[in-house]
Amino acid sequence: MQRLSSYGSQVTAIWLSVVILGHVSLGIDSVHVDSGDGGIVVCESAVASRIGRDVLKDGGNAVDAAVATAFALAVSWPEAGNIGGGGFMIVRPTDGQEPVCIDYREVAPASMHATSFTARDTTFSSKAVGVPGTVRGLATAHQRFGKLPWKRLVLPAAKLANSGVSVDHQLAKSMNAILSEETVRSQPVFAELRRVYGRSDGKSWEVGQRLRLPDLARTLAKIASDGPDEFYRGETARLVVQEMERGNGEISIDDLHGYQAKVKPVLRGTYRGYTIIGAPPPSSGGTCVIQALNILENFDLASRDRFDPLNVHLIAETCRRVFADRARHLGDPDFTKIPTHLTTKAYAKELAARIDRKAATPSAEVAREIRLAGESEDTTHFSVVDGDRMAVSNTYTLEASWGSRVVVRGAGFVLNNEMGDFNWFPGVTNRNGRIGTAANVVEPGKRMLSSQSPTILERDGELAMVTGSPGGRTIINTTLCTILNYTEFGMTGGEAVATPRMHHQWFPDRIDLERADEGPHAKIVGALQSMGHVVGSRSGQGSAHTIYVDRKTKRLVGVSDYRRGGRPAAISHAMLVRWDFDEPKGTPLSRTKSTGLQQSEWSQDIADSSADGHDHFRIRRDAPSEPFDAFLRLNPNVRVNPIAVEVKIDDASFAGASKNEQLRIGFTNDNGKPEVTARMILGRDGKDGILIRGEALGGGTKIKPTWISKSNQLGRPIVLRLELDTVADTYKISSRNADKLEYISHGTGTVAKDRDPVFLRLSALNDFAANGEFVDVDRIELQSVQDD
Ligand code: DON
Repeated sequence: MQRLSSYGSQVTAIWLSVVILGHVSLGIDSVHVDSGDGGIVVCESAVASRIGRDVLKDGGNAVDAAVATAFALAVSWPEAGNIGGGGFMIVRPTDGQEPVCIDYREVAPASMHATSFTARDTTFSSKAVGVPGTVRGLATAHQRFGKLPWKRLVLPAAKLANSGVSVDHQLAKSMNAILSEETVRSQPVFAELRRVYGRSDGKSWEVGQRLRLPDLARTLAKIASDGPDEFYRGETARLVVQEMERGNGEISIDDLHGYQAKVKPVLRGTYRGYTIIGAPPPSSGGTCVIQALNILENFDLASRDRFDPLNVHLIAETCRRVFADRARHLGDPDFTKIPTHLTTKAYAKELAARIDRKAATPSAEVAREIRLAGESEDTTHFSVVDGDRMAVSNTYTLEASWGSRVVVRGAGFVLNNEMGDFNWFPGVTNRNGRIGTAANVVEPGKRMLSSQSPTILERDGELAMVTGSPGGRTIINTTLCTILNYTEFGMTGGEAVATPRMHHQWFPDRIDLERADEGPHAKIVGALQSMGHVVGSRSGQGSAHTIYVDRKTKRLVGVSDYRRGGRPAAISHAMLVRWDFDEPKGTPLSRTKSTGLQQSEWSQDIADSSADGHDHFRIRRDAPSEPFDAFLRLNPNVRVNPIAVEVKIDDASFAGASKNEQLRIGFTNDNGKPEVTARMILGRDGKDGILIRGEALGGGTKIKPTWISKSNQLGRPIVLRLELDTVADTYKISSRNADKLEYISHGTGTVAKDRDPVFLRLSALNDFAANGEFVDVDRIELQSVQDD
């Protein structure tokens, strides 16, 4: 990685000002990560991630967890999680079977055709609803790959709907926004949305309140016990048809009977040694992402900074051409012949050669044959990997946020408005982005073109990344950016997700930069304009909940995108970063290597201390005037709570005259001057013998000493552990003999409220004199801690 990673290392040298500047100027917020080799689920809602994770814990595989997560999201993230919509699920099995895409895209009702829609139609109506595919799609995935019973996967969602979801910030914002829309407030067709999702007193939702969905709970309980046919043939099907009749919608009982999910071969591409596995048409996602990567492989982007204007220009020029081809050629392959050259390297080379490195090509020139005449985003993506590395990349949607806004009376769920993804007006393609090409006009039973891009990356046959995003046509660009950041620019998955994104979609002829007025994008607006680009800005693009394999440790890491919400849930606590101290003798602390997510260095060395060439870091100091504290800034783009630090100590000798030698390890905040949040102390307190104790400064409480050795020599390897929870404002200290697994608790304390951990701090106090005093640190590991 070019610039971004060097932010990381600058941090280390001048830890205070540079890091803070780096953080602000990048304009990056925190992603949340969790890692665990037993499996991870990461989606838009913490409770839905946990429901999926618990399926993994019960012996379910990635598909089982995906099915449970999808049903749970239909409850906890109703603006996009759904049973009334459709989507695409890529499954990568582990037993040598080929990956497949389960296409559960909605279809046009049999009564609909090319000119069914007129200029007076709105996408917020029963007429805009496509035949929903989600329940059939999830059942198809389960039938083919699932291990646990269907009921076990659907019931947790039914229970959640019944007991109620605790409303978090995102959900409150989403419900308050939809309920305050003028049409939703005033039109009778939306009365059910108001009744089901509105508060009974008509007030706004507040964080911490409970959203109970009894109708949806009943629907889900029936789907759990009677299977997917309940949705397509049972009571639920009847309620959908009744709703259509009330709102002049077009879906008939025959449409529901006839709906089928399709199991299709995936699309495959390659990029710089990675295999890209994407969704086939009627999603344009796989085709467009692979085509864009093929074009970009012709340019050495990594030789320049990620945000060099030429790089952004090349990505935009690539996307311009890819989206023109999308408009020309893509639609439902059962109705439209899709050329095979789009994803070939040869065609990409031709397109790359036509890109002017110095100037923007007007979009109208890229597809002259398309006659031009004079356009919403909500979907949700989630990623699942299990302990065997079976992976699921799933994007599903209601199309707009809250879809058609039509809630099926008595059944409690929102219907999609996916018909809006067809080219409604044949022949009318305009500069605003409306497309009227033939490939994607409405036909009975046809699937509408999608941009959903659930993607899986492999390297040398092994899983490397699972990603995707919501965001309409921006999905393709978001997914492309995440993949480029990871593969081309060498970022970690967390950085790849956090980094500001860009978008170009042919028409409108404009590059949209995420937060163009700050961070790295602000610096390049002028350069792009002088190349002839129109530059726009958007506040947040997409929400790429991603799982990736850490390059060094090979462990799984789940990343939830800060831009909307959500959390990863992993099956075990796991390592975030680790030092093994296997450097040559004499290597100072600042040059010891870590593996994992943090990948930055200590602010300074501890005087006289160094690696001892025997997989230890030997801490000694006999020059009290030297600085003795070393800080490691925790990656500001990666927020973890609770967090733990574990230190394995092979031996220690405290025999100095002051009887006050201490090794302190803990977390420190950053108020300009770092102050201790909580730390554990190994050492003496003016007496012979060795103790462990804890302290939390600034108003926290102490943990009393436990004596672990009567003599001044430890004489055995131990593991010391400090866990900090800044939501509960507590810390606890425990230890174990290195050859045992059980920890002994040394107690729990409270920490001051305003001291979130910013640094890991390592201090050696007083005279570890030259005559035999030392602490041999065998490893230090930062861990995430499961939150249940
Ligand atoms: O399938 C599609 O491409 C669109 N219906 C997706 C809409 C979407 O992502 C809205 N999200 N934020």
